[in-house]
Amino acid sequence: MTFSESALEELGLAPMWVRRGMRPSVETTASVEAVSTASTTEASGSAGTTLSLQDTSPREAGMSTRIQQPPAGADESAWLDDVSAEPPVLTRTNRIVVDAQADTSTSVATLDWDTLSARVAACERCRLCEKRTNTVFGVGDRNADWMLIGEAPGENEDRLGEPFVGQAGKLLDNMLRSLTLARDTNVYIANVIKCRPPGNRNPEPDEVARCEPYLQRQVSLVKPKVIVALGRFAAQSLLKTQASISSLRGRVHEYEGVPVIVTYHPAYLLRSLPDKAKAWADLCLARDTWQKTAGAPPR
Ligand code: URA
Repeated sequence: MTFSESALEELGLAPMWVRRGMRPSVETTASVEAVSTASTTEASGSAGTTLSLQDTSPREAGMSTRIQQPPAGADESAWLDDVSAEPPVLTRTNRIVVDAQADTSTSVATLDWDTLSARVAACERCRLCEKRTNTVFGVGDRNADWMLIGEAPGENEDRLGEPFVGQAGKLLDNMLRSLTLARDTNVYIANVIKCRPPGNRNPEPDEVARCEPYLQRQVSLVKPKVIVALGRFAAQSLLKTQASISSLRGRVHEYEGVPVIVTYHPAYLLRSLPDKAKAWADLCLARDTWQKTAGAPPR
């Protein structure tokens, strides 16, 4: 199996994009092949073809007969983190409650990793501290080229102190594997908000504002070559815009001097199979951007 085939397999797109013998009808052949070809080109690392990928949605490509439609009224803001999780395990970060609370005089922008995580663990800057079980600081390689940024912890993340540990996290891990990335190896994952909003409500603007210095410091410590914003909320918060996710996808933005690619939230993708193909295109754009920024050889 080639790299692009195994990558598409990981994303659950192989039957749509690779196994041409399974195409639903002659009518869809040309457009499905157009997507498949574009995908292979992207996976082999050539730049400049992103727009053709972005422009060809699965629906436009005639795949709507084979793919499940999202439930009526579905949007991407709600999470599906309802899987059972292991009992709470305190992370190192949450054990270090130290004196961070007492010493809030030092600017967050100057903190090192340990002091920063301790400061977050003890944070009482907004009302979200009242109902949290654990803060969710971030996880992964602190020197990674790739940084993924989600919205805020859900129920399981709040219990375990780690981002993206539910079903959405599993999908995220599979998507990362398609690019030979993994949270424990070469990617850093964090959220805009470090504490769970009660009932998974959307975070309020003042909560985002009070939490942002932590994320800004994480970005400046990691120094990623590319940031992937997961979902509408993360994208809008990072890019300080109210623009829709569809209008933000397919272009390279910037946060704190780092290129940002916007894609769908994995929890949304669990419910909207057609948009998995678009998410794959987003990841290809992120990979092309990373290759350009890092001067890395094509994978
Ligand atoms: N959704 C997010 O945006 N982040 C998490 O950590 C979990 C769910």
